[in-house]
Amino acid sequence: MKNIIAFAGSNSKNSINKQLAIYAAGLVENVNVNVLDLNDFEFPLYGIDLENEKGIPETAHKFLNILKETDGIVLSLAEHNGTYATVFKNLFDWLTRIEGKMFFDKPMLLMATSPGGRGGLTALEIAKGRFPFHDGNIIETFSLPFFGDNFKDGKIINEDLDTQLKNAVKQYQKAL
Ligand SMILES: Cc1cc2nc3c(=O)[nH]c(=O)nc-3n(C[C@H](O)[C@H](O)[C@H](O)COP(=O)(O)O)c2cc1C
Repeated sequence: MKNIIAFAGSNSKNSINKQLAIYAAGLVENVNVNVLDLNDFEFPLYGIDLENEKGIPETAHKFLNILKETDGIVLSLAEHNGTYATVFKNLFDWLTRIEGKMFFDKPMLLMATSPGGRGGLTALEIAKGRFPFHDGNIIETFSLPFFGDNFKDGKIINEDLDTQLKNAVKQYQKAL
């Protein structure tokens, strides 16, 4: 059986993106899902001086290894001021200091959600443009607008949006 990881580009305890990532990963059939939380991977704020003085933290090697070993990635990005939340950008920056091609071509379902009407689409589009430079193999993308209205009790309650995600997951499944 294949193994995939699911996580959010967020450090909120009740991350809506983590909730979406868990739901989407649960739709993928015949896989073991390892749900990660960035709160479990502490990183100092990236800075070149810190890197020169103290080197790259062990946690960055650990996270990179998880990406290397997994068969697939389900990632939902929180959007802060039109881009990745700091916690994700920090992770991204540390990992690329070890390995520029940090996504190792692993099939990725890339998502975003937010309480607003664009559903984190701005951050999602930025990632979609950027990740391929890092061997990001984005199979499908999905953005869920108005999370508070469209997601309840662990699932999407808007039928059209749910169908859209399920179609994306079907394509994703084929790439695993
Ligand atoms: C500093 C900050 C900036 C934000 N900027 C945006 C934004 O640009 N677009 C958006 O849709 N939501 C924005 N939000 C709202 C987030 O989408 C919302 O907090 C969401 O819950 C974040 O995802 P998470 O729960 O997975 O951490 C912002 C929130 C914060 C705290």
